[in-house]
Amino acid sequence: MSNDWKNDFPIFRNNPDLVYLDSTASSQKPQVVIDAERKFYEESYANVHRGIYDLSMKATNLYEESREKVRKFINAKSTKEIVFVRGATEGINLVAETFGKTLKKGDIILLSEMEHHANIVPWQRLSTPALDGARATPPHLRREGVELRWIPVTDSGELDLSNLDELLKDVKLVAVTQMSNVLGTVNDITLLAKRVHAVGGKILVDAAQSIPHMPVDVQDLDCDFLVFSGHKMCGPMGIGVLYAKQEVLETMEPYQRGGDMILEVTKETATWNELPYKFEAGTPNAAGAIGLGTAIDYLTAIGMDKVWEHEQELSRYGLEELSKLGGVTMLGRSATPALPAGRPSPSIAGAMEGTFGRAAIFSFSIAGVHPHDIGSILDEQKIAIRAGHHCVQPLHKRFGLVATARASCYLYNTKEDIDALVAGIKKVQEMFA
Ligand code: ALA
Repeated sequence: MSNDWKNDFPIFRNNPDLVYLDSTASSQKPQVVIDAERKFYEESYANVHRGIYDLSMKATNLYEESREKVRKFINAKSTKEIVFVRGATEGINLVAETFGKTLKKGDIILLSEMEHHANIVPWQRLSTPALDGARATPPHLRREGVELRWIPVTDSGELDLSNLDELLKDVKLVAVTQMSNVLGTVNDITLLAKRVHAVGGKILVDAAQSIPHMPVDVQDLDCDFLVFSGHKMCGPMGIGVLYAKQEVLETMEPYQRGGDMILEVTKETATWNELPYKFEAGTPNAAGAIGLGTAIDYLTAIGMDKVWEHEQELSRYGLEELSKLGGVTMLGRSATPALPAGRPSPSIAGAMEGTFGRAAIFSFSIAGVHPHDIGSILDEQKIAIRAGHHCVQPLHKRFGLVATARASCYLYNTKEDIDALVAGIKKVQEMFA
């Protein structure tokens, strides 16, 4: 499987033996993104939105051009709907601390069992903490009364929507991932948006995993909020996006207060800047935004449908090859340990036929081997995977596990990388035989 895209990423030139299978945690960066950030510092650097001199205006233009690139990439109606934040996590916290504070006792937030901690913990802060006192939210941080409800996950790793009418009762917000960072499942956001809007609620989409890998159109999805991070989509760390419908953003109070989000300040009071600046307090990460804009140029030139197609091929190939290994259990892709070589498990075959496909993310365990040992032994063979709970403890608990090993792909991966993973897993099994 040839892959010219790999040549765009200097990390592979500098580490020729590296088999990088941890793009779900963070993606590698193409040369153009690295160059764009450096060029900004070398040629056009100044603070943005503050200076009337040429260099500052140049920097401001580059920053605002990146906002327009983001708008176009997700097909938002206006750049007023694009707020730069540090990442998906900050985007969710912003919504929880602003829109979330308008929720009242008895209101329900509907989450799913496959959510990342970043899409659970900010909502817990609005709800009455359950469980043990020692680890519960301190009383001064509690906002009693908002309740969290959960969409269950099936054995085959999909949302169980069979009881959706009941689940949506009194729901004011659905906060759900578009793509699971553990299962690779792609959720039907359009359907969830339609159903929650019908009961008068809103929907927030955690697109941290989906945006890097597949085309996403916020108007098609009809979501009210959508968040993502630059670093998982070939962009820099520390930059991300909150998209929200303009009419929703207009009703929200600022998240943080300080420079740039201000229109006028007196000793007594202050008024807020227009959208989206009302939500961008302080000097923004302009260099990060410019890097993200370049990452968007890079991905757009390839075509997000091509990226998704390539990864679908890796997803199918990976499932086929991993399911041939005895003793390897795929989380949410096979309810039982994989069958011996030559006999693909029916539940794996089923998962491959899903309407939306599955991302090339493989979370697995090997009987009798701790995921950290799997990770360490693979690392000795220059294969980088993640081991642990991947910031998704409730999902692991749902499957009766504490941790898994996870291999995840991006556009620069090839079938040869999957072959290396399979050979590496065989070595792990031999060492623990
Ligand atoms: N959320 C990232 C992951 O899944 C860090 O690994």
